[in-house]
Amino acid sequence: MMNYHVLTLFPEMIEQGLHTSILGRAMETGALTLETVNIRDYADNRHHKVDDYPYGGGAGMVMQAEPVYRACLSVQERIGQRTGRRARVIYVTPQGSVFCQKTARELAREEDLIFLCGHYEGIDERVLEEVVTDYVSVGDYVLTGGELAAMVMIDAVSRLVPGVLNNEESAQFESFEDGLLEYPQYSRPKNWRGKQVPPVLLSGDHLRVEAWRREQSLLRTRKRRPDLYEAYERERNTQEKPGTSGKRKIGAVVFEWSACAGGTDSGEGEPKAAPYLEEILKLSGELGLWRGLAGDCPAGGKDGFLQILDKKGLFERILKEDTGERELGGNFYKQLLEEVHLPGKKVLAFVSSPEGIQKAREAGMRVVWLSPQGGPLEKSQICFRQIADFLEGMALLRNL
Ligand code: ADE
Repeated sequence: MMNYHVLTLFPEMIEQGLHTSILGRAMETGALTLETVNIRDYADNRHHKVDDYPYGGGAGMVMQAEPVYRACLSVQERIGQRTGRRARVIYVTPQGSVFCQKTARELAREEDLIFLCGHYEGIDERVLEEVVTDYVSVGDYVLTGGELAAMVMIDAVSRLVPGVLNNEESAQFESFEDGLLEYPQYSRPKNWRGKQVPPVLLSGDHLRVEAWRREQSLLRTRKRRPDLYEAYERERNTQEKPGTSGKRKIGAVVFEWSACAGGTDSGEGEPKAAPYLEEILKLSGELGLWRGLAGDCPAGGKDGFLQILDKKGLFERILKEDTGERELGGNFYKQLLEEVHLPGKKVLAFVSSPEGIQKAREAGMRVVWLSPQGGPLEKSQICFRQIADFLEGMALLRNL
């Protein structure tokens, strides 16, 4: 339950803005209450004038201290009688700290919140010193008044107050909840004007869907909000993990095309994923690692390959640059490292060809050999060899 008290010169703006939709419903059910207080009602002159010229000159008018003080005092007194406590007073101002999801979470724990909305050139500093506990802005731009900013904050706080959202509305994963942007969403139809829903979402495989979404969140955040992404990475890197120095050792896994195809890539038709590829993909997805394709990828096999790995989860530039030729491009591994801004030692490469091993090592990557079927080993040994390679790769991943 949350009780909002808004001190403003435009109470109707707040009332109209907040009594609709989800917040309107929450006010009907009693999960939220809203009281607007017209600061003008606390003016001590016949004309209800609340502003005056600034001392020292300059443009615009300043809201006077006394009406603001009295309006605030009357609200605090009523809150005090009910709860025995004083409420936080949030002055919405471009000169405040910038509002974010963390602030919203913190404010949602209160029982009463008072928002003070300014107009004109601001409010007399002396009353602010007396009554305000928090200075909060909605962003680095200037609005004509504090009302819209207060409504933005009230909206963001309210949806975190128990009982405001119903089950369907309160999604578990949302942008900013863990410092990342939300993954993309799709609904019917499956094919909209030729654009398909990513196949992984239709697979019914929960783990893969989760891994894909996690990856999309990371990719989207890195692209659209590099500032958030860096903060997220820093946080992850400084988190202590049992048995490690606390530093994340591996940031990406990369597959050589023929390793994905189980070392039997003929270049024709759909490749078969190596038996262990699914497992490696699941684990690396759960760990939130980047996943990429390097090496030669036959043009004809691309689509089938993408169905296995799901297109969006890959480093797309590498794919786009692929010419469809059977020759190993030479610089794939190095390009890939540039793309993800990772040093070679942070990438684990699953490779099957001798060239792949050489190229990945040259780029400084850690290499797990997924033995090709055939090659230097006897047929009966292949299975054991593959299992051993696979387990080694999984162990490396788990012990990041
Ligand atoms: N009042 C005017 N501009 C504002 C902003 N950016 N944030 C909060 N209050 C404001």
